[in-house]
Amino acid sequence: MNPSTPTENEVTRRGFFQLTMGWIAGSFAAAATAVATVRFLVPNVVFEPAQRFKAGAPGDYPDGSVTFLEDERVFLVRRGNTFRCLSAVCTHLGCTVNRSEKGYHCPCHGSTFNADGNVESGPAPRALTWFLVTLSKDNRLLVDKGESVASDKYLIL
Ligand code: FES
Repeated sequence: MNPSTPTENEVTRRGFFQLTMGWIAGSFAAAATAVATVRFLVPNVVFEPAQRFKAGAPGDYPDGSVTFLEDERVFLVRRGNTFRCLSAVCTHLGCTVNRSEKGYHCPCHGSTFNADGNVESGPAPRALTWFLVTLSKDNRLLVDKGESVASDKYLIL
């Protein structure tokens, strides 16, 4: 027998290297599977901006005014002692609508809406959304963009 030829029970350097590499590859595969499984079990979270915001004191809005609140993309509408809040987001593709002579106009594709936010000409498929307006404990207008209301629902003070 050749002294350099390993017997059945001896481990060669090459065999040891192959065995080690196999264990390392197997460990990486098991770790990657474990990470993927844990990642699958943890739900994705979407952080959205708050839907409710304070729009200031009722006295900040003159009678008959329609005030655009740019940060929130809404119009605050005051008539006498009533307050309403209209979304400025076009129901077509989400552009911000502008005030017009008779109501609102979308600069993107030309939809027009009347003063109540109803569609007068498309392509917008439906009316602008009215949001719930209430009064907070510290006497501020509180708008909830998560709650839509009918166009004839007002906050009356
Ligand atoms: S986004 Fe307003 S009409 Fe298209």
